Amino acid sequence: MNSVAPPSGDRPKVVVTWPDYDVDGTNHGAALRAAGAEIVLAPKLGHRSPAALAELMADASAAIASTDPFDAQVLAACPRLRVIARLGVGVDSIDLEAATDRGVAVAVTPGANEGSTADHALALMLAVTRRVVEQDASVRRGEWNRTGRHMAGAFGGSTVGLVGFGRIGRLVARRLEGFDVELLACDTRPFEHPAVRQVELSELLRRSDIVSLHVPYAPGSGHLIGDAELALMRPQAVLVNAARGGILDESALAAALAEGRIRGAALDVFQTEPPPTDHPLLKLPNVVLSSHIGGLSESSVPEMSERATAAVVGALEGRAPKDLANPAVLAHPSWQPAPVPR
Ligand SMILES: NC(=O)c1ccc[n+]([C@@H]2O[C@H](COP(=O)([O-])OP(=O)(O)OC[C@H]3O[C@@H](n4cnc5c(N)ncnc54)[C@H](O)[C@@H]3O)[C@@H](O)[C@H]2O)c1
Repeated sequence: MNSVAPPSGDRPKVVVTWPDYDVDGTNHGAALRAAGAEIVLAPKLGHRSPAALAELMADASAAIASTDPFDAQVLAACPRLRVIARLGVGVDSIDLEAATDRGVAVAVTPGANEGSTADHALALMLAVTRRVVEQDASVRRGEWNRTGRHMAGAFGGSTVGLVGFGRIGRLVARRLEGFDVELLACDTRPFEHPAVRQVELSELLRRSDIVSLHVPYAPGSGHLIGDAELALMRPQAVLVNAARGGILDESALAAALAEGRIRGAALDVFQTEPPPTDHPLLKLPNVVLSSHIGGLSESSVPEMSERATAAVVGALEGRAPKDLANPAVLAHPSWQPAPVPR
């Protein structure tokens, strides 16, 4: 591979936008410095515009990134950039085609946070069905509401529909096998599973008491769940989204919840993160919310961060990352072996 060192001979700059990066850790910041890098910490704590990201990344060789918007304009403004190491597997915030065209490798960390995301989906399903958050607020107000319109839904004996049956969908199913539920799933790819029946999305929506989304956000899955799909759901059903905000039409969901067309929802992800404080979904009591923490745990974050660091160190030293979201980048001239001097 051609060198990623800046032409000036300066140390290559690695911008770390992941919050809480262990800048002194042996397999984290210390490894980057040992590879000759200069580390710039720029944690992404809320919204970050493409213009702000472009300014931050202008002379960077690498990024250890959160959900920063690496669109085509940002990538065009970063001529030295060779690798974006994304903690996690969601790459919907990165224009993969533009990255590939520019020789920017996009490294991901499959296998590191799927279990934690599956755990979180379970937590959300149980919380919204058993009205845990509403109950918590009510008890704190000095109330004791146990019956009538406060009655919690049943979990055991219900039907759970998984939209997307990839790594996370399968881990959710494995956890749910311990509950007394019927399992349905839809996926664009056919599958066989002893405990899960594959059905079309429309049948899944019509039959499920709990619908949980586990598809990537891609051109084909934008607003996969909108007005028409919500209209198929049962009045006692709840919707869980621990995948990506854009999969769901949030306005349609807010209307369905406010009008009692479905019972509740639990959301870890939003179209805009963080959601604006006047967002209608933030005002509804039958909605459980979290701040895109599905993939984060005390064990998954250090592992993802270490693997992202290793991908960057490898790239700085001329090795292609192992887990690439855009493997076609390896055909780019900048990733071809340097000619052997005669
Ligand atoms: N909340 C979080 O913190 C968090 C953490 C990790 C991942 N995620 C999200 O979860 C998503 C799924 O992760 P994964 O590891 O299971 O991915 P995966 O690629 O293993 O599985 C996704 C599955 O969805 C299927 N699919 C794609 N489009 C579909 C469609 N339109 N209809 C039905 N099925 C469709 C695919 O065939 C695949 O089987 C990620 O893309 C990411 O956006 C969220």
